[in-house]
Amino acid sequence: MKVLVTGGAGFIGSNFIRYFLSAHAGVEIVNFDKLTYAGNLRNLADIDSQPNYRFVRADICDADAVDGVLAEGFDAVAHFAAESHVDRSIAGAREFIRTNVEGTWVMLEAARKRKVPRFLHVSTDEVYGSMAPKEMASEKSELAPNSPYAASKAASDLMVRSYVQTHKFPAIITRCTNNYGPYQFPEKLIPLMISNVLAGKKLPVYGDGLNERDWIFVEDHCRALDAVLQKGRIGEIYNIGSGRPVPNIGIVRSLLKLLSAPDGLIEFVQDRPGHDRRYALDDSKIRHELGWQPQVDLDAGLQHTVDWYRANGDWVREATSGEYQEYYEKFYVKRRATLAQL
Ligand code: NAD
Ligand code: TYD
Repeated sequence: MKVLVTGGAGFIGSNFIRYFLSAHAGVEIVNFDKLTYAGNLRNLADIDSQPNYRFVRADICDADAVDGVLAEGFDAVAHFAAESHVDRSIAGAREFIRTNVEGTWVMLEAARKRKVPRFLHVSTDEVYGSMAPKEMASEKSELAPNSPYAASKAASDLMVRSYVQTHKFPAIITRCTNNYGPYQFPEKLIPLMISNVLAGKKLPVYGDGLNERDWIFVEDHCRALDAVLQKGRIGEIYNIGSGRPVPNIGIVRSLLKLLSAPDGLIEFVQDRPGHDRRYALDDSKIRHELGWQPQVDLDAGLQHTVDWYRANGDWVREATSGEYQEYYEKFYVKRRATLAQL
């Protein structure tokens, strides 16, 4: 199976590439990524020179670049590339509309023309908006996005749906809850809190800290995406979650405990505008239909994540200083040229 992964230098994409290459023999992956601030090729330094993996630096909004790569022929596209941070979408939504909406349309159009047999669109539970206590969103729930990020993802989901309906395009949509784990950029809650503790900084908790998210360990998400890619039904939507929403303050306190740091580091700060109170998913469809279920419980996943961030101080330092952005030009391109000469 030859798969084009967009956004593979980001958090979930890089975890997916590593997982997919180790889970299946004889597969091939091309990683198509623009390397925005969220793309870090260091995330894949360990598999970089594998013969069945290749990186292409390009923008999903560049139709010629997308078509040029798809012309090679692929069995599937796994589309991760997106602007993904809610706070940034509040500060400015332009890039979210460009990459998430226009970029997804470019991918759909190119994949349709090249007759790609399977297109996995990786989306989010945030498209359903905030849930009341005990409420859960199923795949049939209405879309009610509240942040510009969520709205751009909902728009991309609808564009995918329209291609399925209008062009009989072979797409599948997944909507997953909040991921955490190794290689997550320290702007999202869990890696930000860990890296702040390690740097002796305060932990900014928005509002009253009682907003709930249903955290899933990134490898569990990758296993679910693999199952959908292999066995999911064309035209369907699959929710993916862990089934236990937790208040933010609970996550932050657990992290402080794991890091043996005092609760005094917590600082309640001004709430995020439009802050969704609670995300919760009914994901019984993927569990029953594809036999998937999460394997990593929250305590074990948080412990593993804290251990990883502790053991990878250089990655954290480079991610926070911005140094990682020089990696492509300074090391990756040079190393590739040297390898090519050998
Ligand atoms: P991320 O921000 O860590 O990575 C995004 C990647 O996309 C980066 O490598 C970036 O360079 C690349 N990219 C951005 N714009 C691009 C463009 N125009 N062309 C090519 N590449 C581009 O994101 P993530 O957290 O890994 O999320 C991946 C996908 O999963 C997104 O579609 C997101 O909406 C979805 N998702 C994320 C979560 C989560 O908790 N992080 C949960 C559910 C769904
Ligand atoms: P985040 O990781 O940004 O994911 P999302 O907004 O996509 O759910 O935030 C997770 C939760 O943590 C969300 O309720 C906002 C909150 N949060 C804080 O309280 N402080 C922070 O510094 C950040 C980044 C998030």
